Amino acid sequence: MKSFRDKRRDNRPHPARAEQPRPRDAFAAGRQQAAPAERRETKPADRQEAKPVPRVLARRDGALPAERLPLILEVAPNADYALLDSGAGEKLEQYGPYRIVRPEGQAIWQRALPAKEWERADAIFTGDTDEEGIGRWRFPKAPLGETWPMKHDGIDYLGRFTSFRHVGVFPEQASHWDHMAGLIAAAKRPVKVLNLFGYTGLASLVAARAGAEVTHVDASKKAIGWARENQEMAGLADKPIRWIVEDAVKFAEREERRGSRYDIVLFDPPAYGRGPKGEVWQLFEDLPGLTDLCRSILTPKPLAVVLTAYSIRASFFAIHALMRDTFAGMGGTVESGELIIREKSAGRALSTSLFSRWVA
Ligand SMILES: C[S@@+](CC[C@H](N)C(=O)[O-])C[C@H]1O[C@@H](n2cnc3c(N)ncnc32)[C@H](O)[C@@H]1O
Repeated sequence: MKSFRDKRRDNRPHPARAEQPRPRDAFAAGRQQAAPAERRETKPADRQEAKPVPRVLARRDGALPAERLPLILEVAPNADYALLDSGAGEKLEQYGPYRIVRPEGQAIWQRALPAKEWERADAIFTGDTDEEGIGRWRFPKAPLGETWPMKHDGIDYLGRFTSFRHVGVFPEQASHWDHMAGLIAAAKRPVKVLNLFGYTGLASLVAARAGAEVTHVDASKKAIGWARENQEMAGLADKPIRWIVEDAVKFAEREERRGSRYDIVLFDPPAYGRGPKGEVWQLFEDLPGLTDLCRSILTPKPLAVVLTAYSIRASFFAIHALMRDTFAGMGGTVESGELIIREKSAGRALSTSLFSRWVA
């Protein structure tokens, strides 16, 4: 059977998308694609790319789930990882033994720590501020190797200086990992977890340690290699984790056909990515279909489906911090959030913008 995205398999990205920001997708996209200059070419042939065949999405019957929002999940500084400071377009983080400086577009406010704290950095990423930029790590104190030992809540793994500014882990995900581990432990029955776009595998290791049987899928052979290394490093080699190099959508479609089912599905897709056979992943186009697929491959007593999306370049927290810095000393209150328009038909919120206001 054909994938709903088959018609879109092409070795070049859609020209209209070539300029889109690609936060966090640089690993797959940047590594497996042509150089940025080539990606920007707009030959007429590119424009003839066939329209994707969307998965037919029927409206699901039944009452909508209850809602709880806004819910802000927070990772506090801890012994394994800490965001030490941010400002002036950069962030200062502690990853295990190393203090690291990286660009952070949202940090439009000023640094809170004195310069000497920033000068103690072990590694500084000075690459292009676009995450696609080929990396330039600088090591002011002493040259460091590509990897270093890291821990998350007692799980050993390797941090790494990748040439595209990532360090092999997204620490903000820890909130999801803890939540998932709690669900697995509380279930008191065998739990099957599917981790799509799994990268270096921390979520898979957390799930396996909590007692789940895990299927980890990523398009990148290299990422799967790193994830397997992490499994060894964590002393979890005996835990049941299937490592699969595959396009996430293709894999989910196959599981649907085969009748394979999962209790928990995690999916953390990039804004733009590539499957191993050049399958194009576009967040806004493909997410509805994949989300629907994720629902279809749940067991009769599922526990959770966790989606993370990183295509948002700014958050209301960024303009909130800017406004508070700017109005320091004036008293009053800074209130921040999102402006939404409530839909008449089904009462859903359409988010149009972020806001922050100072009120005397
Ligand atoms: C944002 S990272 C996921 C981060 C991970 N969940 C974590 O917390 O460490 C995106 C991952 O998606 C993978 N990827 C990109 N396109 C893909 C596709 N079409 N199918 C499967 N994986 C893909 C990349 O190789 C990369 O490892």
